Amino acid sequence: MTNKYMYFIANWKMFGNLNSLNSLHNVNSFFKNFKKKKLIKIIYCPPNTLIRPMSKKLKTSHIEVGAQNCHENESFGPFTGSVNSLMLKNVGAKFVIIGHSENRQAGENNQLINLKIKSALKAGLKIIFCIGETLKEKRKKQTKKILAKQILLGLNKIKDKKNILIAYEPVWSIGTGMIPKSNELFNTVDFIKKKTNNQKVLYGGSVNPKNIHLLKSIVNIDGYLVGGSSQDPKKFIDIIKKTYN
Ligand code: PGA
Repeated sequence: MTNKYMYFIANWKMFGNLNSLNSLHNVNSFFKNFKKKKLIKIIYCPPNTLIRPMSKKLKTSHIEVGAQNCHENESFGPFTGSVNSLMLKNVGAKFVIIGHSENRQAGENNQLINLKIKSALKAGLKIIFCIGETLKEKRKKQTKKILAKQILLGLNKIKDKKNILIAYEPVWSIGTGMIPKSNELFNTVDFIKKKTNNQKVLYGGSVNPKNIHLLKSIVNIDGYLVGGSSQDPKKFIDIIKKTYN
């Protein structure tokens, strides 16, 4: 049983429409009655199209809303299809995920991620900064080297890190059902904490109600970034409940 303050972040990715917001009712009422609610922070990161209606729906709750990415430009500009941090904040986002491996794979490099983090911090958003190695890098035993580089370049020239959460997401564990071995995960989280002067470190990658008993035993993890299982409110609630019993 843990009595630690933990983050539970739902990353809906490109899933969900207005109807999906009905499922928030369950999470909201669970949260209201949850005895350990003071220990948890729930953050929903839906697609941009749902940020506004979701924020309205969650207005009276303590559940917060975040975005899944942002453009690095601080002001308006000719960037077709893009949205910047101020625009996200304007519709109710308090957090933004930056550096997710799905966006790194689509071409985002560490320098761009650094610019995005800086502009989002300036806009007053809190950051969920994702890092993680690929399977190939893991096999070559390069995990620490890759993470160190992602941290060094991603957080370059950012002095005040109090509004940054780090999400360690091994690329090979995202959506695959695989999670790292417990001792490996403990050591990697420990490494990230040492490299970042003790930032909060969340774990992401196939977190589900079945493996949460293993994950929760890794005592240095400060929360979870949940993809697939966060779309089903029952599973997401189950993950939270099981973390605390
Ligand atoms: P998953 O995704 O839980 O579906 O593996 C996690 C993530 O990509 O943030």
